[in-house]
Amino acid sequence: MKYYIETYGCQMNVADSELVLSILNEAGYIQADSIDDADILLFNTCSVRDHAEQRVLGRISNERHRKKDKPHFKIVVLGCMAQRIGQRLINEDLGIDYTVGVDQYRALPHILARETGVALDFNSQELYEELLPVHQGSRCAYVTIMRGCNNFCSYCIVPHVRGRERSRPYLDILHDVQNAIGNGMMDITLLGQNVNSYHYRDIEFPQLLKRISQDVPDMLRLRFVTSHPKDLSDALVMEMADNPKLCEHIHLPLQSGNDEILHRMNRNYSYKHYLDRILALRSAIPDISLTTDLIAGFPGESEAQFEDTLAAMREIEYDYAFCFKYSSREGTEAAGFIEQLPEAIRLERLQRMIDLQREITLKKFREQIGKRVEVYVEDFSKKSKSMVSGKTRDYKIAVLSGDGSMIGKLKTAEVIDATAGTLICR
Ligand code: SAH
Ligand code: SF4
Ligand code: F3S
Repeated sequence: MKYYIETYGCQMNVADSELVLSILNEAGYIQADSIDDADILLFNTCSVRDHAEQRVLGRISNERHRKKDKPHFKIVVLGCMAQRIGQRLINEDLGIDYTVGVDQYRALPHILARETGVALDFNSQELYEELLPVHQGSRCAYVTIMRGCNNFCSYCIVPHVRGRERSRPYLDILHDVQNAIGNGMMDITLLGQNVNSYHYRDIEFPQLLKRISQDVPDMLRLRFVTSHPKDLSDALVMEMADNPKLCEHIHLPLQSGNDEILHRMNRNYSYKHYLDRILALRSAIPDISLTTDLIAGFPGESEAQFEDTLAAMREIEYDYAFCFKYSSREGTEAAGFIEQLPEAIRLERLQRMIDLQREITLKKFREQIGKRVEVYVEDFSKKSKSMVSGKTRDYKIAVLSGDGSMIGKLKTAEVIDATAGTLICR
């Protein structure tokens, strides 16, 4: 039997799909090159915003026609959406045969042996130990260091679908990193919803970074997502400054620049605290690049409170910001807040946020012109076969002229031009 998997959502899901590949291959299933060749189509889904769910439902409704020609064709929903509404998805006539939650992937071969099935467990402490992920195309490896989240930000579905926070044993993480390096991947990203609270025996997050860097001498670039501003310690800032393998970039979601909104988001920090962390990072690592996540139109957000977020964006000048329109998620605390804002206001604020960030990103990218940067060449450029593209240490996309022989290598190049999203190098 051949299968094909489509992955949506965050890097966590990318890493989970690689575990699913490993489980299915081990059980004798074969990965198909395209959906046309597949007997089983799996969707690894995201629930973070309504839009993410609607997109996958749209994809499923486009693919279910295959069952007419191939009666044995099966559709499987994995991931956060399965965890959230797996039973409902099966009950409705959507063409979905199986739904399997985020901690039940080991059971996949057993479930697929049945006609149909739902596998959801809300009390699992699964860490997927002793499974070797099957890396997909990309030259950058994601290594999960913890699963779940305990923060319960009031807008967020993640703790409801991913369960409680648990850290993976050090040796498992080390093994995954060594395996990725052995497969020729040079850029490693450690993953967790809140990596700063990694804790395994006596190892805290800064020690984890130090130990991996020492124990994998061939690794050249190490990164991590996501950091929570409330837990970003001085020890981590020092480790970033001292450890040459750690890339000069941090993704530090702000969400809002207004203290009242941050409080109602249950973020547990003030804007002043956040800014203090940014200043500590910038003074220890002067050329660090900063990216963030922002939410426009949180319930009850006034125009003045929204403008505090715009002011924060101007003050901090992020290299890039992922801007989201607030999406109400059933079962979260904020879904019960009475002052849900009209869609038109949320959209209008989102657009203003995006416009402002585009200006700032262009400025930050243009500031790189004339500098020499190290590019990890990952692929041909999308626009031309005589150009290659990759990432700088500070997480910017860069293109330069070159051929296939450069792919997988580090190249130092000079930035000669920039758009709001790409450095053009020579
Ligand atoms: N663990 C990470 C984020 C995971 S979700 C962290 O704490 O930063 C990624 C981003 O999606 C969040 O940072 C937030 O900006 C956004 N997000 C989460 N829930 C949302 C919602 N209900 N509506 C809009 N954006 C949301
Ligand atoms: Fe969601 Fe907050 Fe946990 Fe991030 S830290 S996953 S935003 S609850
Ligand atoms: Fe990630 Fe989406 Fe789940 S952001 S953890 S795939 S809800």
